[in-house]
This record gives sequence, structure tokens and C-alpha cells, in this order.
Amino acid sequence: MLITVLQNTHSHSLSMETKILLHSLSLTLFSLLTLPFSTPFTPQDNYLINCGSTTNITVDNRLFVGDSTKPGSSYLSTARSITLQDTNPSPNSSTLYRTARVFTAASSYSFGIKKIGTHLVRIHFSPFNSQNYDLKSAKFSVSVNGYLILRNFGVHGTVLKEYILMADREKLEIMFMPVGELGFGFLNAIEVFSAPADLIVDEGAKLIGPNGIEEYKNLSTKVLETVHRINVGGSKLTPFNDTLWRTWVPDENFLVLKSAAKRAVATDTPNYEGGGASREIAPDNVYMTAQQMNRDNLTMDARFNISWNFPVGLGGAQHLVRLHFCDIVSLSLNQLYFDVFINKFLAYKDLDLSSLTFHLLASPFYVDFVVDSDHSGVMQISVGPSALSNPMRVNAILNGVEIMKMVDLVGSHNGSKKKNIWVVVSSVVGGSVVLSLAILTVLLAITCRKKKPKPRRVESAGWTPLRVYGGSSHSRMSEGTVNASPGQNGYLGLKIPFADLQLATNNFDKNLIIGSGGFGMVYKGVLRDNKKVAVKRGVPGSRQGLPEFQTELTVLSKIRHRHLVSLVGYCEEQSEMILVYEYMEKGPLKSHLYGSKFPPLSWKQRLEICIGSARGLHYLHTGSAQGIIHRDIKSTNILLDENYVAKVADFGLSRSGPCLNETHVSTGVKGSFGYLDPEYFRRQQLTDKSDVYSFGVVLLEVLCARPAVDPLLTREQVNLAEWAMQWQKKGRIEEIIDPHLVGKIKPSSLKKFGDTAEKCLAEYGVDRPTMGDVLWNLEYALQIQETGTQREPHEDGNINASELPAPRVVPQTPSSHTRTDGNGGDGCSDMSTTKVFSQLMNNEGR
Ligand SMILES: *[C@@H]1O[C@H](CO)[C@@H](O)[C@H](O)[C@H]1NC(C)=O
Ligand SMILES: *[C@@H]1O[C@H](CO)[C@@H](O)[C@H](O)[C@H]1NC(C)=O
Ligand SMILES: *[C@@H]1O[C@H](CO)[C@@H](O)[C@H](O)[C@H]1NC(C)=O
Repeated sequence: MLITVLQNTHSHSLSMETKILLHSLSLTLFSLLTLPFSTPFTPQDNYLINCGSTTNITVDNRLFVGDSTKPGSSYLSTARSITLQDTNPSPNSSTLYRTARVFTAASSYSFGIKKIGTHLVRIHFSPFNSQNYDLKSAKFSVSVNGYLILRNFGVHGTVLKEYILMADREKLEIMFMPVGELGFGFLNAIEVFSAPADLIVDEGAKLIGPNGIEEYKNLSTKVLETVHRINVGGSKLTPFNDTLWRTWVPDENFLVLKSAAKRAVATDTPNYEGGGASREIAPDNVYMTAQQMNRDNLTMDARFNISWNFPVGLGGAQHLVRLHFCDIVSLSLNQLYFDVFINKFLAYKDLDLSSLTFHLLASPFYVDFVVDSDHSGVMQISVGPSALSNPMRVNAILNGVEIMKMVDLVGSHNGSKKKNIWVVVSSVVGGSVVLSLAILTVLLAITCRKKKPKPRRVESAGWTPLRVYGGSSHSRMSEGTVNASPGQNGYLGLKIPFADLQLATNNFDKNLIIGSGGFGMVYKGVLRDNKKVAVKRGVPGSRQGLPEFQTELTVLSKIRHRHLVSLVGYCEEQSEMILVYEYMEKGPLKSHLYGSKFPPLSWKQRLEICIGSARGLHYLHTGSAQGIIHRDIKSTNILLDENYVAKVADFGLSRSGPCLNETHVSTGVKGSFGYLDPEYFRRQQLTDKSDVYSFGVVLLEVLCARPAVDPLLTREQVNLAEWAMQWQKKGRIEEIIDPHLVGKIKPSSLKKFGDTAEKCLAEYGVDRPTMGDVLWNLEYALQIQETGTQREPHEDGNINASELPAPRVVPQTPSSHTRTDGNGGDGCSDMSTTKVFSQLMNNEGR
């Protein structure tokens, strides 16, 4: 029989297999492209000053200009100041800290601003002893553009003060004012540079307090002083490691209960395509580490918070708390739901990173909170599992924290006096300022350009298998294939020119987007021959690994079926990697069930769709030597063509199933929340019965017309499988069916359907039917509905096989591989099924 089938499909098999190979190859290529492509941020304004020095020095690849050199001094306006050198520097201290400028009268640095907007200002203080001055006894105030940022300030050790503020005029002036008769001020270095445009944005921050959560606006007008910058779960990051030359410190010392947290570390760089955060918001290293709940030695669903206490001033100021997240702990989307608390106030409920980052895993995201600190001197941040968490998967994470104090500007403006001083001082310094400023700007610009050759982004990085493997794509591909070598011609035959795809999709018109996923965007398109296609355009950053790829390569090369979506071609020009599938006119099943304008499907249509998808799955499980497990069965992965014929799509997660020797596939738990087999959770063992479970959830979705998980419903209704099974077990499933179906389903058909779903959802895989059995039972439910004939002699659903042509029912001891007769090449190829149902389906056939 197998031979017959292969013969029948021979003319198509070569190209199909190559198509599948390409599909799987491309998945891996995406994942291999997760190299750290980044264009370093180049600030438009960039002033780095080595104070009290005649020399320019380079620190962390940045040139600090001595303020006693000719061009450097042009920034400085001072009536009385001296330079000091540390004659006995500690060998570990930064070279920046070996000189200082000391002011004995009000003095200022003034910088021309080319880019109005948010700037970072850093002032470095590192006191050392010299003959005439003990820098530790300095006392002074500092203002920026007239706003007092440090009042009666003095330091005993090295301190870096960082401010993030709006430079809203052409000049930014930092003034140092000694306090008292004999007072003096000092500093070692200054940095003033423009921030990336998205570092501080006006909208989106949440004001947290006893009144709940309100929107906080105009954040960019505040002067922020950095208090803490924490790389949660990670190591110290130095300016050398950071995109904006920041320092991040580890979180351990702030954890309230160290044993509550467990470090998580990612090996792949984050997916910035999610749009939640850029590399400048925080560097890769922050997003690649996290603390998560430490559930070692605890029951699976133990729920607790991880908390950190960060010391802040006692003054009760407002703070900006920026929390960084990147889901590096989940193995698939929508597994992680957690709550965030700040000072015990609920700050973010049911945080679901998957949905916030365009359905990408490991995609950076941050949230800004504005919090009135109480007078406890502590800012407490907690994360804990949300009520939506699946009991099998409770977790909560945090990757980074920044706490910034909002500098109180009320009454700190020292405007008029300052301006007078500036006039005096500038007249003293003279007109050379402007000229030398211009020269220095040019010099700086040249230096910057030399120092920062802009690496081209991904576009030029190359997408070709050649580069990825260092070999040819063809040789590599045939290596991975066992019984399906594509051959060069088949491979090339599928190639679609990029220009054709641009044309087909109106140059990847946003309005033609019909879907998105970890892989990239899916566009609707029309090829030159008027064939409608779905064009899946990849973005680098998929996290699939090479082993998964090889499995897929072997596995997917065997797939060909009327109820499985097929590949039309691919494109890999211009660093693009694009897969082209047959277009499914009616889209995902889900949108015909709820939440859209489509007319409701009839019961018969629903049954036919379930039968079609069951047929596709049955073929996956049994139709090839080892069986294939889809692993992500859900109503969005079942697509409908123009005739409502169901096809299973998205094999991105599929795996080779158990081999004949019954070893399981032990692998990271993947799949979608609400559809996941609880046994797979518990035992991390994958069998085809996990697909059966997920399919059972789809059956309920079809029957009840509601999502597998609906967070808006009451606790007992949130999870469809749990809720519907309560009604099913009471024998009252008809009370929760789609209102459109009420009165339209024959009770016996409904009973058959409900029983089938219930069996699919059995707690243990061994108790669940095979897809073949599910298929038989669904066919039977349809037959009852259509003919009114009830051929079921026993109430419990067990029928006597001799009474065929009634379909088979769930066997007493189901096994994953009771059926071996489904090697078919299309929907009608299950020989036994075909024979039997040729009678049953008489007038209705396909
Ligand atoms: C950070 O930079 C230092 C050099 O200053 C380097 O030794 C260290 O490995 C870097 N850390 C990370 C996490 O990249
Ligand atoms: C987590 O902390 C918040 C705020 O203190 C508290 O309301 C909540 O009950 C805690 N959750 C757990 C699971 O302990
Ligand atoms: C304003 O600046 C002058 C020095 O220029 C200083 O003496 C005075 O105390 C400042 N006023 C305030 C309110 O800080």
C-alpha cells in the first residue's frame, strides 16, 4: 500500500519534499542569524571632559578632552580655579581620576547643544589628597541650566552623579558654587551627551499610589538623578559593556530573601524586533539575565513573590522606577503571567510579555512607573505569579531595575544671579570661546567619525546558507536528509525572485499583513500567475536551534497531505529569507468561531472542519515511519481554504514522535497556553497524545465558541478545558454551547462530540484516544447529524466492531500506534477510512 501511495504521488513528491526541506532549513537560518548586529549609538552632542588636565585621554574607547588644553578650556568659565594632580594615585583608579579642577569661586562649564532633547549629564567626583587641598572637605552646590541639582555637596569617596534631563536651549551650563567663606568645589570629569530619542518618552509611564494606577505625562521635562541601576540576575556591567556607557550592578545584595530567587541566563541575544525596547534602553547583557522564582524543592504551584529593597532617600521624593523584562525563562509564548508590585502597590497586573512584544520570545520590554517614595527610605519591588498563571508553570521574572529620583525643581532655579555671573565670566574669557568651540566641534566630529565606523546592519550581513555554514547550501541540505534528497533542480525550481514577492505584496505593505509570529510577518500576496499566496518574511532572531532544525528537516520532508498547508516557494535574495505558502482564503478557524464579523459556522461545517484537521493530524502521527508530533495545535493553526477545507499549519514546533521502541522525546515543553497537555508539563515527555489533548481543547472551542483561555472571565471559567469538562461530566455540556448552535445539534451527535472531547482531555495520555480514533468518532458524530441514524448500541459509547459501518470507537487500551494504515498522500488515502466512509458519507462526500 505504501508503494502504491508513493507511486501515486511520485510526480509531486520531489518538489514537495524540497519545499519542506527549505521550510525547515530556513527556520534554522533565522536562528543562526542571532549574532549581535548593532550599530553603536553615536550621540549628536558628545562632550567628554578630563578636568584639571592638559592631556586628552581615552577611557573605554571614549576620548576625554583635557579642560586645560586650549580647546578644552573653551568650555570652562572661571574666575578662580586651579588644577590638581594626584601625586600618589592608587593603581586601580581610573586615569580620569588622577587630576581634578578645584574652584574657589563660582565657575561653570558651558556646552553648545546641537540637538534639543534629552541629554545625559555625568559628573565624576573622586577626592584625593594634595598639599593645599583635602578634596574630601570640599563643600559646594551644582546647578544645571540654573536648576540646583546638588546642594551643599561633599564626597568622601568616588561618586558618579548622573542626571537625565531636557536640554531645551542651545547651551547647557553646569555651574559649581563653593559654599561658605573658605569653601571650594571640585570635580574630575564631566560627560554631557545627547540621549537616544526614545530613552525618555512623555507618554506611557504609570503613576503608582494608593489611588491605583494613573497615567503620568511629560516625563521628559523632569530632571532625573540616577539612584540605582541594577542588572538583575547578572554581573556588573561597566561603561565598556553598555550602549550608553552606563554602569549596572548585580542585584543580590538587594534581595529580601535570597532563596526566593534563582538566576536565569540566556545564551542567545535578545529579539529586539518585538518593539518593546531597544539596545540603548538597556544592553543585551541586562536582558540576557534575570531572576526567576526559585521553585527548587517546592511543589509545582507554590506561589510567592521575589522582593528587592532598594535604599532611597528619606526625603519622600518622587521616583521613576524603570523595570526591564525579557522572557528568557519560557520555552514558548504565553507561558508567563506575573504581577509587579512597588511599595506593595499593585503596579502591573497579569504582565504578559508575549503579547507585549509582538509574540516574540526573549524580546526586551520595559515599563516606567512613577512612585512617591514613602518615608521608609526603601523602595520595594516585588514580582510574583499572576492569577492567570497555569498551575504547572507559575513563575515571575525581572531582568533589570533603574531607580531615578525626580529632582525637585521648585525653588531651585537660581536664574537671575546665574545669568549675571555668566555675563561677567564670559566677558573675562573673551571672544575666542566661540571660535575654539567651533574648531573643537569639528575636531570632535572627525574623531567620532574615525572611531566609530558604523557597521552595517543586518541587511548586509548576509542570509545565505553559504555564510552560515561556511559551505554550500546544497551540500549541507543533502547531508540532513535521510530519504528525501531535494536535488539541486527541485530546490532551484522553488525559488521566487525577491522582486516578484515585492510586487506580490505591494512591497510588503503593512495593510497586507495577515499574521505574525516568532518567525516574522505574514503577508497576503498575489504572484504573477495570479496565484494567491501567504508570504512569511523572516526576521533574524528566531530561537530555534540546530538540533531542532535537523529533526525538522528529517520530519518535515515526509509531509504531504490535503489537510496540511503546503509550501509554494521561497526567496533568499538580498539577505531576505521568505517562505511562500498556499493562501488560505478563509484564514484561521478561530476567527470563524468568535471575535470577528464572520457569520457563524453551521454544526455540519464545524464537524467537517474538525474531521479535516483530525485527518491531517492523524496523517502526521501515523503516516510516516516515525510519526510526527505537531506540538502547537490550536484554532489559529488550523486554516480554512475558500471551501472551508481545514488544513493544519505551522510546523515550527513539530517533532519526531516516539520511535517504535517507545522511547519518548524529552525536550523543552513547548506549545500554547490553554492547549498544553498537563501530562507533558509534569513529565516533560512528549507523545502524540499531547496533540490529542490540544485537539480536544480545539473541539471545545468549536463547540462553545470561546477562547481556550479567557482572562476576562471568572476564575473557574478562565480555562476552557477545565470549565467545559465540569459541564461535560455532569452531562450538561449543552448548557454552554455556542448560542448559534442551540437547537441545531442532534443530541446524539452532541453526545458523541462531547464524549470525544472528554476522552481527548483525559488526564493521562494512555487514556486518550489516538487521532485515528478521534477521527472515527467525529465522522460518526457527523453521520448521526446528517442521517439521524444512531448506530450506537451502547450508552457508554462502546460499540461492537461487527456493527460496522459504524466507526470505531476509543479502544480500551489505546496505544499511540494502533493504526498503521494511514500512509496516504491526500485526504482520501486512509484506506480503511475511505472504504468505510464511502458508504457513510454517501451524498455528502468531499
Ligand atoms: C565587560 O567589559 C569588561 C572590560 O571592561 C570585560 O572584561 C567583561 O567581560 C565585560 N562583561 C560582559 C558581561 O560583557
Ligand atoms: C506579593 O506581594 C504583594 C504586595 O506585598 C501582596 O499583596 C501579594 O499577596 C504577594 N503575593 C504572594 C503570592 O505572596
Ligand atoms: C544662587 O547662586 C549664588 C551663587 O551664584 C548663591 O550664592 C546662592 O546661594 C544661590 N541661591 C540659591 C537659592 O541656591
